Amino acid sequence: MKISIIGAGNVGSLTAMRIAQDGLGDVLLLDVVKGRAAGKAMDLEDARPVLKYNYHIKGSDDKAELKGSDIVVVTAGLARTPGMSRQDLLLKNAQILKDVCLNIKRQASDAIVIIVTNPLDIMTLYALKITGFKPNKLFGMGSSLDSARFTNLIAQELTLAATDIEGVVIGVHGEGMLPLPGFTKVKGVSLDEFIDDKKIESLIRRTVNRGAEIVESLGTGSAFFAPSAAIAAIVKAIAKDEKRTVGLCSYLNGEYGIKGTCLGVPCRLGKHGIEKIIELDLSPEEKSKLAESGSLVAQAAAQLPA
Ligand code: LAC
Repeated sequence: MKISIIGAGNVGSLTAMRIAQDGLGDVLLLDVVKGRAAGKAMDLEDARPVLKYNYHIKGSDDKAELKGSDIVVVTAGLARTPGMSRQDLLLKNAQILKDVCLNIKRQASDAIVIIVTNPLDIMTLYALKITGFKPNKLFGMGSSLDSARFTNLIAQELTLAATDIEGVVIGVHGEGMLPLPGFTKVKGVSLDEFIDDKKIESLIRRTVNRGAEIVESLGTGSAFFAPSAAIAAIVKAIAKDEKRTVGLCSYLNGEYGIKGTCLGVPCRLGKHGIEKIIELDLSPEEKSKLAESGSLVAQAAAQLPA
């Protein structure tokens, strides 16, 4: 299997490393900056004797190398700097994404495509428009990262194993994100058995702001360890036909009463991409928040050049 990653920045190169070390396939790392992807691929392959593992990573700046890819991960684009919202990146990254998508369409029209570029939900909807790909084969990473963050913050708060907790977050990968404490369980036990509403509210706020908290702390660049872990898990679910349910930014066509936009929702994932969108039984308030985010995403994507 050929797994290509476009963008050899922090997220792209760490994703390449995780995918290679997980033995999911041959990896191509592609970047427009001459020599950047090649250098990172050389460095990653130099680790093989130490790790005792013969994975293959090729680095290139030649867009034509994408040919024959089975899975393409798009991380290309600018990252946030302190004080910048994901939205501020919109126009710059749309331009980058359009070029990238046209190349994917030319070189790998059968590939499953995972969008990571921010603002993620708008970029996913835009990429669907540019490529004309089916929504089961083109989707975004978003809410699996947000769910991981919610889960981790709960685990830290309760001093419990993060692996015992299943935090659920849906919606936009941005300010309107919807952590769902009502669907979040600790080994089957509801979250409100462990903490009070006030504490839950504060965990929700921290989850929504987690990306920005990391950007502020780093001073330059944005998160990459958890994002790359979330992407590698998605690639694994496809490559191994796992039928796992993961949070993905998916095109909605009537699910949750929403049509014609992209938002993070739980999806069953296998070798053909999204096999099923799982509809959670949301409260009217949650439903209307989700619909509101969906409209904002659609409006923003409609303003981008066709
Ligand atoms: C974040 C970026 C990847 O949430 O959107 O850290």
